[in-house]
Amino acid sequence: MTILQNGTLVLPEGPARADLAFDAGKIRAIAPSIAPKEGDSVRDVSGCLVFPGFIDGHTHLDMESAVTVTADDFASGTRAAVCGGTTTVLDFATQDRGGTLQQALDAWHKKADGKCSCNYGFHMAITDWNESVKAELPAMFEQGVTSFKAYMAYDALKLDDAALLDVLCALRPFGGILGVHCENGALVNALCAREKARGNLGPAAHPASRPPEVEAEAVSRLCYLGKLADAPVHVVHLSSAAGLAEVRKARAQGVRVYAETCPQYLVLDDSLYRLPGFEGAKYVMSPPLRSRADRDALRRAVEDGEIDTISTDHCSYRFDGQKTIGLHDFTAIPNGGPGIEHRPEIIYTSFVHPGRLSPAAMCRLLAENPARLFGLYPRKGVLAAGSDADITVWDPAATSVITAKEQQQNVDYTPYEGFALHGMPAAVYVNGVLAAEYGRPTGAVAGEYCKR
Ligand code: URP
Ligand code: ZN
Ligand code: ZN
Repeated sequence: MTILQNGTLVLPEGPARADLAFDAGKIRAIAPSIAPKEGDSVRDVSGCLVFPGFIDGHTHLDMESAVTVTADDFASGTRAAVCGGTTTVLDFATQDRGGTLQQALDAWHKKADGKCSCNYGFHMAITDWNESVKAELPAMFEQGVTSFKAYMAYDALKLDDAALLDVLCALRPFGGILGVHCENGALVNALCAREKARGNLGPAAHPASRPPEVEAEAVSRLCYLGKLADAPVHVVHLSSAAGLAEVRKARAQGVRVYAETCPQYLVLDDSLYRLPGFEGAKYVMSPPLRSRADRDALRRAVEDGEIDTISTDHCSYRFDGQKTIGLHDFTAIPNGGPGIEHRPEIIYTSFVHPGRLSPAAMCRLLAENPARLFGLYPRKGVLAAGSDADITVWDPAATSVITAKEQQQNVDYTPYEGFALHGMPAAVYVNGVLAAEYGRPTGAVAGEYCKR
């Protein structure tokens, strides 16, 4: 048995001074005081918060596109994740057009199995919807895939509205949830062409080609599709005040809309696209970073409990040799940025440290809500006897600074270079195994597939 003594446990009902004991991958007891027996190992965590391990519900690891592959694979990405306090990631297995869902799931297992420092599961991204794909849904649920993804943009990935409606209707009897990349793909294509015709070829043209209206229209359309299907919808990586307004409108009409945002939309803004030279390419992701007014609207929504989850959309490409593919054409810059390592520290620093969110609210956004939404609760997302021993011991007094030089992510930059942090994970346990201490991996590869 391992006993964490004298910590402040972050429980759904609020913080509690208590000891916690775990063994064989499971939490066994929580009590005001647990006396160690012979052979038990004890860690004094006084002064620390003890969270259920954080869950990142949105990552792209070892993801190939037509021109390149993400810089982080499952080994480096999950190693970086545990160093930041994340103990489970949900990655997007993606169907090839003309291929089956089973082929995609098999391919993602091959990428991940045996290589992960944290637990992992897969959403299934559907890119080609037809009757035979629909017939695969029961097999997906049997294999632990309860959440799906669709794109409204990207020519190689997107589904049309009729297909989206049918996917929503098909998932309803299973209780599955569809996450959707909400950008109007036709408008994106037209606005990219407009920027190029104007001779705007640098990274600053990226946000101009994907303004908030492009997101808001797609969010609105998705919500109407959810209403028509009488099914819940999940808006992933919400980035704009206009998109948020559509979420509010739909909720007021009774549509079940879940909203995810990401740290980049809460602490960065679109002034970064105006950095000199090609620097702005580091921030080329979709949807793009927004104005400070958008950022502030999303921050308020987080504080007011309107956002359900904060995930990373970690999709890392090196600046040298990968982002530079688009040196002369912003539409060729691989879309995405790194973040899997720093999400808990950024959220703690930006919201909990200044008293804008309680530790329990942070726990809901980063652990409990993703566990509930994606079929992991109460096995994960809560500290309770019988739950998995995924535990993040948080030292609120520790300080550090994010730098590319110090990070574990396998990439040559970070969008958060120089960001001063308050609080960091002192010890991170995955299935009861110590995976990281103070931002350094122990080398344990204890992650298991999460059959949901
Ligand atoms: O730019 C991004 N976000 N790339 C990853 C794929 C996606 O759209 O989520
Ligand atoms: Zn997306
Ligand atoms: Zn994504």
